[in-house]
Amino acid sequence: MALFTGTPRLEFESLPSTNAYAMGLLAESPIEGTTILAYHQSQGKGQRGTTWEVAPGLNLTVSVIYRPTFLAVAQLFLLSKMTALAVAETVSHFLPAAAVAIKWPNDILVGRKKIAGILIETQLEGKQIAYAVIGIGLNINQPLFPPELQHKATSLYMYEGQHFSIQQVYTYLCDRLEAWYLALRRQNGEHLNRAYLQQLFGYQEEIDIQLGDAQMRALLVGVDKGGRLALAIDDELRYFDIKEVKLLL
Ligand code: BTN
Repeated sequence: MALFTGTPRLEFESLPSTNAYAMGLLAESPIEGTTILAYHQSQGKGQRGTTWEVAPGLNLTVSVIYRPTFLAVAQLFLLSKMTALAVAETVSHFLPAAAVAIKWPNDILVGRKKIAGILIETQLEGKQIAYAVIGIGLNINQPLFPPELQHKATSLYMYEGQHFSIQQVYTYLCDRLEAWYLALRRQNGEHLNRAYLQQLFGYQEEIDIQLGDAQMRALLVGVDKGGRLALAIDDELRYFDIKEVKLLL
């Protein structure tokens, strides 16, 4: 059971975005561990300025407020790693037979389809992270997706053919998030790095990537401290940030 993640828990019928709401709360010095849940988001935010659109009432859309003042801005990617691990563990718990993986940097896959997305926003104080808003969209009971997403999105229901309690998934997720967050606070992140690589889609394998207009094969070597993807292309080791490379599934 999580001790402080989910206390208090703020629940809304509808919000533009749980992340936007949480970011707005920061001015009021919210309690660490506060969660914001919405049944429906009208302007859910995705990575790189995209939108996160899911059917109302069927999925988990939650933001968690942490206060990781022990992390320097340069260590921000550790938060991505811990969240991806917590979400991946949650999916594995409810779908024990599924092949769950983290697609760099922090999408969660079941097989080759995305089941959850993560958006982390921060408030900085000098070189430290004063607050982190950890936004998670996890597809739970959605039975189908619009045609443009049908081949690349999935849900717990679509995999298992049965409904899941959003409340139970939320509770388990809070527990795993808190466990990783406390581990991060105690240690230097080495354990986290190893666990992340173990779950990383394509790690130490040849994968298909898109660089600009060109598609090619590359060896996924790892991820550096800043979160850049390390790829060996034609025997040359190169580092890429999220805007520069796309992993093809
Ligand atoms: C992605 O593009 O993969 C990230 C999606 C993150 C969606 C979640 S849903 C809860 C939280 N509130 C938001 O507006 N976005 C995140």
